[in-house]
Amino acid sequence: MTIDFAALPHDFLWGTATSAYQIEGAVAEDGRSPSIWDTFSHTPGKIDGDDHGDVACDHYHRWREDIALMRQLGTDAYRLSIAWPRVVPGGEGPVNPKGLDFYDELIDGLLEAGITPSVTLYHWDLPQVLQDRGGWPERATAEHFAAYAAVVAERLGDRVTHWATLNEPLCSAWIGHLEGKMAPGLTDLTAAVRASYHLLLGHGLATQAIRAAAPGAQVGIVNNLSTVHPATPRPEDVAAARRMDGHTNRWWLDPVHGRGFPEDMRELYGVDLPEKDGDLELIAAPLDWLGLNYYFPMTVADDPAGPAPHVRSVRRPGVPRTGMDWEVDATGIEDLLMRLTHEYRARRIYVTENGSSYPDVVRPDGTVDDPERQEYLTQHLAACARAARRGAPLAGYFAWSLLDNFEWAYGYDKRFGLVHVDYRTQKRTIKGSGHHYAEIIRAHRDRTARAA
Ligand code: FCB
Repeated sequence: MTIDFAALPHDFLWGTATSAYQIEGAVAEDGRSPSIWDTFSHTPGKIDGDDHGDVACDHYHRWREDIALMRQLGTDAYRLSIAWPRVVPGGEGPVNPKGLDFYDELIDGLLEAGITPSVTLYHWDLPQVLQDRGGWPERATAEHFAAYAAVVAERLGDRVTHWATLNEPLCSAWIGHLEGKMAPGLTDLTAAVRASYHLLLGHGLATQAIRAAAPGAQVGIVNNLSTVHPATPRPEDVAAARRMDGHTNRWWLDPVHGRGFPEDMRELYGVDLPEKDGDLELIAAPLDWLGLNYYFPMTVADDPAGPAPHVRSVRRPGVPRTGMDWEVDATGIEDLLMRLTHEYRARRIYVTENGSSYPDVVRPDGTVDDPERQEYLTQHLAACARAARRGAPLAGYFAWSLLDNFEWAYGYDKRFGLVHVDYRTQKRTIKGSGHHYAEIIRAHRDRTARAA
């Protein structure tokens, strides 16, 4: 498998991604308040092994070492998220200067290392105090989010140009409020639909706030999308796939692109949206870029008795799977990039996450060889380059993840890093896939230099 490097722009950004709660640790330090993930992870039985993010990768204290790792990989960009409960511990109101100082120094450290920061404002860590007042199902949460976004943009906007409002609002709304497998752990369709609405409203309000505070900011939103295939050509399964596409993709993309919330899904959920005049315009503020997180495709069959959207997943025999039991199918990323290009007329796209978990083993000589993750990376980058060749305005790729980290409900057992973390000692070891990524980056740079 080869990557068509010539299809990628010469200034293509090569990055890695992480998020605050998954790596920082230091949950009670320097004025940070608890988030819904502290609460959820400390609720017995919610997380495999009852793991939590109290220490995680201790990035809060080791970020200099982590920037050095990025340099070793040769990346030129880094996607991080800011923890709202560090910056505005009360959810609204007074700013915690120490919380902002941490990110201020981190950004300076990245820039000194020649690494472009891409900042995500919300990667699921809602201050618990706001959850106590109703959380995302309440409109006020969207307003507080915008106020917090303004605070961060005011402080960092002189150095940060890449901004994402939300990471994967689908997970916050559907997995957090409908399936109950992520914080805040509800299983309530009305709460989930209301949360989805206010997340997107929060995105719109925050977009405005960032642009007001930091002229020149390049603002986007990060969605996790999937290709959805019917399990059989039966009309029931084809309709099921259409519903799952609505639930996974269209519900999140259509409103942001000025098309409103999809009618078929509104009917299916049967929940009144908490709409107010002007909301849809805010939600549809034109964006500078779209972020695509891609992990796996979906195959579904009709399941009338199941919860909305009344589908069940079907395993495709013979398709390889990662350690998460997720199918490996790189054609999905190519198809989604083309869909964003043609159907949604994206101006610029970043793959903001893509990666794989496998049960890595540290060998007696201390190295970690992970051929499957290397293969996953190559296949997906080759698919990205094919999409770019076909006209997708793809401007960068962020591998998930720089480090092994706290994989939400799966705890520390699932490892996605290009760098291995020994959680006992906090020792970092670049895996085979990290070296492989470095070679890919070098090959693209060499090609670009030769072409110049
Ligand atoms: C995505 C999340 C990210 C990480 C990867 C594996 O859904 O955005 O934090 O957990 O999955």
